[in-house]
Amino acid sequence: MLTPDFHQLQSIDAEALAAEARAGLMAVRARASPKFFYDALGSRLFDAITELDEYYPTRTEAAIFAAHGDAIAAAARQRLGPGFGLVDLGAGDGAKAARLFDLLRPSRYVAVDISIDFLRLSLQRLQRAHPSITMVGVGLDFSAHLQLPDSLCPGRSLVFYPGSSIGNFDPDDALRLLRQARALARGGALLIGVDLVKDSATLEAAYDDALGVTAAFNLNLLRHLNRLIGSDFAARQWQHLARYDHGLSRIEMHLLARQALTVSWPGGSRHFDAGERLHTENSYKWTLPGFDALLRDAGWQQLQHWTDDAQAFAVVLAS
Ligand code: AVI
Repeated sequence: MLTPDFHQLQSIDAEALAAEARAGLMAVRARASPKFFYDALGSRLFDAITELDEYYPTRTEAAIFAAHGDAIAAAARQRLGPGFGLVDLGAGDGAKAARLFDLLRPSRYVAVDISIDFLRLSLQRLQRAHPSITMVGVGLDFSAHLQLPDSLCPGRSLVFYPGSSIGNFDPDDALRLLRQARALARGGALLIGVDLVKDSATLEAAYDDALGVTAAFNLNLLRHLNRLIGSDFAARQWQHLARYDHGLSRIEMHLLARQALTVSWPGGSRHFDAGERLHTENSYKWTLPGFDALLRDAGWQQLQHWTDDAQAFAVVLAS
């Protein structure tokens, strides 16, 4: 039986991360990258978000794959021909890709996530269930630059980027990432999930749920920063805020200081007035024509879409 191969391409540089966090806190408009959501608790809170009634993207995308998986896989296989690789960006436990293995029949599965530690157990489990697929786990923070050595990813690939994570990139960065994905596919294809523009009440509820799970996810970033840079954020002094900006087509998540306060860390501090914000995330919502234009700009063609009846979410195939 084959065994998965693991490659950590970048070591996680805690000092560089801490420097990035401190620089964000010192910016005129304080900000923290959404990557600081995902410590161990933050990853669990995100999994909980995906089960919330209000958070429709995960289940809508799953419903699209359940209803149209056969057609999507047939279209992808026709474009790729036999013997292609499936490159899973932000693979996590690989469950979304694994549901497509039988339909897509890739010869190689390349799971990419920030750390191979996240991939190890799940890839070993997937390998036992699919002994004939060559499996590779790659540790890489592809949000800054997406490129894999030819040795890990030879030949044509289907680049799989589900979950609408592309929405967490500003349009310029999304364009760059989609161009890099095209180079990575080496003449293959892209299968990507994208959340679509809709009424602001639905969008704001999805990012400010009744149980307060998204609020906890947002506030947990402060605990993560405390560990990373030794700051003294007190979560009780902050309030979760999620607003849809029509002009920019994006949900913005912020943390709002409930009172005037000063946050300190070794070597620095920042005063926040009452009501002043720390900007933690953007989640862009696209129209289908707008996303098509972005894909075309990035060099992708032959766009095919599958959506739910309400056109809340789309799965797009491009080559
Ligand atoms: C990971 N990403 C696609 C999620 C989103 O919807 O933008 C992150 C998230 N933030 C709050 N809820 C979910």
